[in-house]
Amino acid sequence: MQKNKFKQKSGKMVTIPDISSKFKTISGTNQRVSLGDCLDVLPSLEEKSIDLFVTSPPYNIDIEYRTYQDNKSSEEYLSCLYDVFYEAKRTLKDDGSLLSTGISK
Ligand SMILES: C[S@@+](CC[C@H](N)C(=O)[O-])C[C@H]1O[C@@H](n2cnc3c(N)ncnc32)[C@H](O)[C@@H]1O
Repeated sequence: MQKNKFKQKSGKMVTIPDISSKFKTISGTNQRVSLGDCLDVLPSLEEKSIDLFVTSPPYNIDIEYRTYQDNKSSEEYLSCLYDVFYEAKRTLKDDGSLLSTGISK
């Protein structure tokens, strides 16, 4: 599979935009930070390239965030979680680890 092609869970193939400019490298390291919607960034990462995936997804309990709406329908909420964990599974190395917080109603 080409690096800039990505198969969505629906099976549809999409072309990943070049978002390398969204990353900032931490000076003196090989670590990169990106601020934004993780689902804009994760698809650009290669399969099985990550050692540790840490996430603290929203709980959908109507917490008041600045912009994020924490009161989605169950279907929409679970769909968002599915997309993130799908990316975790795709990007983690076989011996990688996933750390996630999690509570919900
Ligand atoms: C449970 S809070 C995380 C709190 C964080 N661990 C802390 O200690 O401050 C969930 C956060 O996920 C953010 N969020 C929701 N969807 C996101 C997405 N697709 N990409 C990046 N952040 C997202 C929300 O804006 C919210 O700040």
